[in-house]
Amino acid sequence: MDLKPRNLTKSIIFFIALMITPKRCLTRPCVNLIPDCLLEIFSYLKYDRKTLFSCIRVNRLWCRLAIPILWSSPFKYYSQSYTYKIINTYITCLNIQDKVILKNLGLKNCLINMKSLFYYPRFLESFVIDNYTLGLKKWVKENFQNENLLRAQQIVDNMMMDLIFNDNCSLKKFKYVNYIEISRIDFLKKLSNLNLSLINTFEFLGHGYSKEMYSNILPKLFNQMSKTSRNIKHLSLYFPKTMSTKTMTTTTTTPTTSSTTTLTNSTTSSTTMSTTFNYYMIDNNNLISITENSDNSTDLDLSIINLIKSQNSLESFSTNEFWMKCSTEMIFNSLISHSNSLKFIKFFTLINFNQSFFKFIKQIHSLRTLEFKRFLFFEQFDSTLSNMIIPQNYLSQVQNIYLEERDIPYRLIDTIIRITNHSLKKFYSRRINPIILSSIKSFCPNITHLHISLEKYSDLLLNIIKNLPLISLYLQVRYISLSLKSCLPNSLKFFGLDSEIDQVELEDLLNNSHLSNLLIMELLNISDINENFRNIFIKFNEKFNYTLKELRLEKSLLKEFILLDKKELWNSRTFKINEVKNFKYTAYEEIFGSPYYKYT
Ligand SMILES: *[C@@H]1O[C@H](CO)[C@@H](O)[C@H](O)[C@H]1NC(C)=O
Ligand SMILES: *[C@@H]1O[C@H](CO)[C@@H](O)[C@H](O)[C@H]1NC(C)=O
Ligand SMILES: *[C@@H]1O[C@H](CO)[C@@H](O)[C@H](O)[C@H]1NC(C)=O
Ligand SMILES: *[C@@H]1O[C@H](CO)[C@@H](O)[C@H](O)[C@H]1NC(C)=O
Ligand SMILES: *[C@@H]1O[C@H](CO)[C@@H](O)[C@H](O)[C@H]1NC(C)=O
Ligand SMILES: *[C@@H]1O[C@H](CO)[C@@H](O)[C@H](O)[C@H]1NC(C)=O
Ligand SMILES: *[C@@H]1O[C@H](CO)[C@@H](O)[C@H](O)[C@H]1NC(C)=O
Ligand SMILES: *[C@@H]1O[C@H](CO)[C@@H](O)[C@H](O)[C@H]1NC(C)=O
Ligand SMILES: *[C@@H]1O[C@H](CO)[C@@H](O)[C@H](O)[C@H]1NC(C)=O
Ligand SMILES: *[C@@H]1O[C@H](CO)[C@@H](O)[C@H](O)[C@H]1NC(C)=O
Ligand SMILES: *[C@@H]1O[C@H](CO)[C@@H](O)[C@H](O)[C@H]1NC(C)=O
Repeated sequence: MDLKPRNLTKSIIFFIALMITPKRCLTRPCVNLIPDCLLEIFSYLKYDRKTLFSCIRVNRLWCRLAIPILWSSPFKYYSQSYTYKIINTYITCLNIQDKVILKNLGLKNCLINMKSLFYYPRFLESFVIDNYTLGLKKWVKENFQNENLLRAQQIVDNMMMDLIFNDNCSLKKFKYVNYIEISRIDFLKKLSNLNLSLINTFEFLGHGYSKEMYSNILPKLFNQMSKTSRNIKHLSLYFPKTMSTKTMTTTTTTPTTSSTTTLTNSTTSSTTMSTTFNYYMIDNNNLISITENSDNSTDLDLSIINLIKSQNSLESFSTNEFWMKCSTEMIFNSLISHSNSLKFIKFFTLINFNQSFFKFIKQIHSLRTLEFKRFLFFEQFDSTLSNMIIPQNYLSQVQNIYLEERDIPYRLIDTIIRITNHSLKKFYSRRINPIILSSIKSFCPNITHLHISLEKYSDLLLNIIKNLPLISLYLQVRYISLSLKSCLPNSLKFFGLDSEIDQVELEDLLNNSHLSNLLIMELLNISDINENFRNIFIKFNEKFNYTLKELRLEKSLLKEFILLDKKELWNSRTFKINEVKNFKYTAYEEIFGSPYYKYT
């Protein structure tokens, strides 16, 4: 392969070209592809880094066309060593003065004389600051002989930011998270002077910020962006801790232990003055404290409202409830101004949740998917839940509900299902009970995707899944009845099971269920497997004309399986065996490509 990369690559690309080239390209008499056709072909290879790398070695034209694509999201493929190389290349693009500064700071490497062929930062379209930062730290650690690595990091980071964010910036996707060790205050100040007009996906996850940041720098940034960046389609915000401008002088020390359910109403450990502040924080997934008594919106609230309103057409929005209670209506009104385009909303937290919530959501006509991570609300609310199930509250437009956490109250889940007025197609919840099952039976006749976790097995379950037009079913329940085999609907394409069963029971299940459309099966907890395990699937696959394409096994199960497998029989048809990732209970990742930053 390595002997003749040029010829081999060239023939592969021509082969691909023949398959995917637009017709107008082929009507040309000669074999050589004209640049815009090549470009189109390369764009299909956007996520195939290896092939693109081969392309740049074919000839000059190919190189010139492939490089921008290759360098449009270099931080996407995260591995420490790859990101390290990317940073190395970016450093060679620095101007000579900056390189001298780095040398004086203790840069070991002799990058000063290296001149890059291209000005790579110009091609950057998608930038993920967290993955970049990991690579940067490694790069600085390995390239500086210096006591003060943190300072070197800071300086290199500033230079990198200047390379990426300037008047030539063509970023479309930008994910920002705050790393405490690297202060990016200067960067954020500078950012508000830039024209980021091409941004269409913007994730801003601010952690551990100061009062100054929330009351001044960020509002300025978002207000400025609402003038220049109007094409944001996907917006995600996370501000775990916010304070109003008139807050106290000392930062609150958070109580170290606190249960998830205790909502503290008084200032737990704060100073004495009559302050107005809104303070909540999720740390290790525990709610630490809530204190609120402000009746004025913060500048941050207003700037975000401004940012949302100024967009041409927002399609997805994710947020925690960072705003003051009195800003709720304005926040929702800004979202309602996108009621022709906004399809997806996720709440990382909802705090002041009450009946009004459904009234607001109802007005977003284009909304299809609603996702919740966590609700924090007060007891008196629970008692009014049943009052909400009235046609005035029906959310007939919503088709997909994702509930990510286990601690969402059953009654709330039940209410949400009931008010969707038969429109649900996908329902994912880490927690349900028999009452919710009955509601699914009665209120979701057209549901196609059901990913659920039950604490206890209930006969109702079988009864329900039998009669639903399910395409995807994921079940997590400690034990499952063997009658499941006769209840799995033939429409299933995806089936996942996390339930204690042994190999014989699994064989029985597969022998006797009719799943002729099944493409992917995921298994998490099969005990007592032996060398016959693989045969179960081979037989199953023969029975259904090799429809099953992929088997995903829990990590240790996969290891066990590989030890037992002798690899003879799998290859007869293309069939993948992979590790199961967690069952899906969230849609957020589909839009933003990565889980939101977890503060550690
Ligand atoms: C960042 O790196 C992680 C691996 O550490 C990877 O899973 C993730 O996809 C990367 N983020 C993006 C947006 O590519
Ligand atoms: C922007 O691009 C132009 C032309 O490519 C170049 O002359 C200029 O130096 C660039 N500006 C910055 C800040 O990189
Ligand atoms: C920002 O840049 C775009 C082109 O990239 C231009 O059309 C627009 O007028 C600029 N906006 C401002 C406020 O400078
Ligand atoms: C919050 O404070 C009010 C009045 O100060 C009190 O009546 C209420 O019980 C408190 N709630 C909690 C959850 O402590
Ligand atoms: C709210 O803002 C108004 C006008 O900005 C101000 O007059 C009022 O004192 C503020 N109220 C509080 C409680 O801070
Ligand atoms: C519900 O919450 C909104 C905003 O938090 C508030 O304006 C409204 O008065 C509340 N309604 C009720 C009935 O509590
Ligand atoms: C509930 O759904 C039915 C159709 O299934 C529809 O006719 C009706 O208008 C919906 N009601 C509301 C309040 O959306
Ligand atoms: C459910 O599906 C049936 C048949 O596919 C269809 O007639 C009915 O309108 C659907 N109901 C809703 C609420 O979408
Ligand atoms: C499954 O069917 C095969 C025959 O196709 C049979 O040999 C095997 O014993 C059956 N397994 C169970 C658990 O019923
Ligand atoms: C399978 O289930 C048992 C009992 O619930 C549990 O102890 C075990 O850890 C599970 N195994 C896996 C791989 O999840
Ligand atoms: C498998 O394919 C054959 C011929 O293509 C067909 O006769 C048979 O019905 C198929 N079996 C199933 C279970 O789809």
